[in-house]
Amino acid sequence: MPRVLLLGGTTEASALARLLADGRVPAVFSYAGRTEAPIPQPLPMRTGGFGGVEGLADYLKSEGITQVIDATHPFAAGMSRNAVAACTQAGVPLLAVERRPWAEEPGDRWHHVADYQGAAALLPPERTSVFLAIGRQNVAAFAGLPHRFLLRFAEFDARQSVPLNAELIVERGPFDFDQELALLRAHDVRWMVTKNAGGSAARAKIDAARRLQVEVVMIDRPTLPPRETVETAAQAMEWLGHHADLGL
Ligand SMILES: NC(=O)c1ccc[n+]([C@@H]2O[C@H](COP(=O)([O-])OP(=O)(O)OC[C@H]3O[C@@H](n4cnc5c(N)ncnc54)[C@H](OP(=O)(O)O)[C@@H]3O)[C@@H](O)[C@H]2O)c1
Repeated sequence: MPRVLLLGGTTEASALARLLADGRVPAVFSYAGRTEAPIPQPLPMRTGGFGGVEGLADYLKSEGITQVIDATHPFAAGMSRNAVAACTQAGVPLLAVERRPWAEEPGDRWHHVADYQGAAALLPPERTSVFLAIGRQNVAAFAGLPHRFLLRFAEFDARQSVPLNAELIVERGPFDFDQELALLRAHDVRWMVTKNAGGSAARAKIDAARRLQVEVVMIDRPTLPPRETVETAAQAMEWLGHHADLGL
């Protein structure tokens, strides 16, 4: 009897949860627990870390997990590395669902960096207007810089402080091209810092930046250990079909 552990937090994870539920495949959906109001899933859910590689390996054994699908965000490198190590240790097959990164197009003004510190170092020394499209955990790397920062978070707890002189917008995407164009114009944005998340939900800001010739500091994806990878939820279902008797 299969029992799938689906590591979530992305659009692809939610799409796969729907396919698993429709196919009546026994599965557990796992959230890290970073957001106050995670999207409800049509599968049994659990929330919070497993306790590193050992904790995850123990969980796989105690819960009788037969396959793991890592559909975490391409920048959730800690979880993805742990999944590779724990699945190897426990002898459980692992598949990653990872969307393709965005590719540079004619007219783009991208500057590639490896991490947030690299992005902060690459911004010009003189004061300019910077859209930090990176999520609230990572803004500390930009503290002390002279710029006018624009931040946009999906949710924000007023008890938390932001270590930057910044204008803050609290709004949950996806945003379309016209919305992003209007935002960049309204704040006279000259530089944007973003992670190469890939996918369509966060893409419009990149297209708007090209139109307005905004300089984009693109944080490239972290390097992960080799693992079997597909791009879509449907491909993950196919993989499961080869690795488990799903009774579909
Ligand atoms: N990083 C991003 O840009 C980004 C963007 C959108 C969504 N997300 C989602 O937000 C979550 C956290 O991202 P992150 O970058 O903070 O991850 P991370 O740095 O790779 O993970 C740190 C720790 O959080 C726990 N964790 C992460 N994802 C988990 C999951 N799906 N289920 C249970 N525990 C999980 C694990 O704790 P233990 O070691 O204790 O097991 C992991 O070692 C991920 O699920 C990811 O898909 C991340």
